Amino acid sequence: MISYQSAKEEIKQAADIVSVVGQFVQLKKAGENFVGLCPFHGEKAPSFTVSQDKQMFHCFGCKQGGDVFAFWMAYHSLSFPEALKDLAERYNVQLPEKHFTAEEKKKADYRETLYNVNELATLYFEKELTHPVRGKPGRDYFKRRSISHSIIEEFHLGYAPKGWDGLKQFLLSRKVSLETALTAGVLKRSDKGHYYDLFRERVMFPIMDLTQKKRVIGFGGRVLDDTLPKYVNTPETPLFHKGTCLYGFDASRKAIRETGRAIVVEGYMDCLALRKHGLKEVVATLGTALSETPVRKLKGIGKEAVVVFDADEAGKSAALRTLPIFLNERLSAKAVVLPNGHDPDSFINSSGRDAFSKLLNAAPSLFDFYVDQKLGSRTQDIDQKVSILEEILPILAKVRNETQRSLYIKRLSEKSEVAESVVLSALGGIKQSSGKGRFKNDIKQQFTSVNTNRPIGEIQLLNLVLHYPETVADLRGHHCRLLISDPMIRRIVDVVFDRQSRSEAVTVETIQERLDRNEDRIWLREFAFRPAFCSDREVKQAVRDFIGKVQKKKIAEAFKKAIGDPRAINEILKKKIAAGRPFGN
Ligand code: CTP
Ligand code: MN
Repeated sequence: MISYQSAKEEIKQAADIVSVVGQFVQLKKAGENFVGLCPFHGEKAPSFTVSQDKQMFHCFGCKQGGDVFAFWMAYHSLSFPEALKDLAERYNVQLPEKHFTAEEKKKADYRETLYNVNELATLYFEKELTHPVRGKPGRDYFKRRSISHSIIEEFHLGYAPKGWDGLKQFLLSRKVSLETALTAGVLKRSDKGHYYDLFRERVMFPIMDLTQKKRVIGFGGRVLDDTLPKYVNTPETPLFHKGTCLYGFDASRKAIRETGRAIVVEGYMDCLALRKHGLKEVVATLGTALSETPVRKLKGIGKEAVVVFDADEAGKSAALRTLPIFLNERLSAKAVVLPNGHDPDSFINSSGRDAFSKLLNAAPSLFDFYVDQKLGSRTQDIDQKVSILEEILPILAKVRNETQRSLYIKRLSEKSEVAESVVLSALGGIKQSSGKGRFKNDIKQQFTSVNTNRPIGEIQLLNLVLHYPETVADLRGHHCRLLISDPMIRRIVDVVFDRQSRSEAVTVETIQERLDRNEDRIWLREFAFRPAFCSDREVKQAVRDFIGKVQKKKIAEAFKKAIGDPRAINEILKKKIAAGRPFGN
């Protein structure tokens, strides 16, 4: 069967996993590997490991792992064919069509149709914005809000005109089924079964993903006046999950990497206004509380986040809610609170970039801001103080970095005028009740968990074939499979031997592709990160030892069978003598 394997191989040649992952996760060299903070789960000490040698990644914390495709799929929430296409495009590799399984193709095609709807809708909104008559309200609105022409172009802003079916008709003319458009979230269906446009008389903000093609996953649309709701967003769809995306991230990634900082604002307009004034490292939440997923993505590229909030109560309390997330994810964060009545958009448009930059540069740490806000003017009230400490301590208990934690404790003590020793002992109580185990060094734990209770000889055999695939032929030829009793190791070794018998490459990732059980794949990946148990010089001897062991085992079994049959025993003894040495060890 011809497959996409060759394209896959070609992409792998070009797409070095360290450089691909490195664009999204800050990696540091650690011995033979690279490590970083896992983008797939919250962690404070890096257990996300990338091996250049094996072209694999594995997280010892959450167990996600695989090759460059597995990373691309997981990071961007894509199917395999999508990831393949994406990387093929990025690395100029020609893809043969039609080599996916029917199921893979169906899933990819389905999602593709949804992207397609979004892209057609974007095109439609952009075109409508330029329409001499229908687009005028949209253009006027953007002018009023100081959104420049170049921003409109760069962010593909558009306008959804008046009327119930402009987009619907446009999509029909492009042969899009209404059902698909409904799933993509751009149309709605009435109780009576009529389809109609979700976005009407609104300026439109397409939201892009972070993949190569910057595909449109959803939209926000704003009314032109004060009617409610002010914004309408694409509902949850297979492509769009409001809580996990950031507006403008695709455009700001480069600037975040360069400046090391991400400015986080709350709204589309804020994002565009800062951008227009040259602060390109800006992203916006979609009005939802900042969640772990985007913070994890930010910390993969930037060193700190500066969160800018409106001066109102809602803005402040939103700021306060983000503290545990930043502490948990260990991305250092600062807080800017704007002067009364302003949001980032109005402030930068009225006071200019320099004034805004000043605020950014003078921003206190989010922790200081939090404590100040909480203690506020009620510092004198003892009950208040106690309840505030009770609120802050569990958050503090999660800070694992000792230096950082002790600084915070000191600060908290100063600000609350509660003695440091009291804060410390209160903190101790919390840490104990929340279970000490959780704070253990999880990397070490994970590394040692790799081969519990598996026979050492079998572990060594597998270690040998992974590090020295050239030994496989000999070991297989001498039936070394007989040495393996552990069912998991046997499943793996069977794949190894089988691949070798077909002259296929024996690498961790090709082996794991053939393992049916996820637990086997995880175990193998972790195991593969262990160093070789013998040196290059000792390989030959190691192979001889294993072969000797098999022969010994074969003879022992033959003896068992031959009990009571002197002639058979004699034959065996002859063989045993002929086999010589290995018996002795
Ligand atoms: N939002 C939303 N739905 C609403 C109101 C707000 O999804 N009904 C989201 C939008 O992403 C919006 C963000 O919350 O950009 C912030 O809301 P808000 O501060 O009210 O709006 P602004 O961004 O300031 O918008 P504008 O300046 O146009 O009033
Ligand atoms: Mn605003």
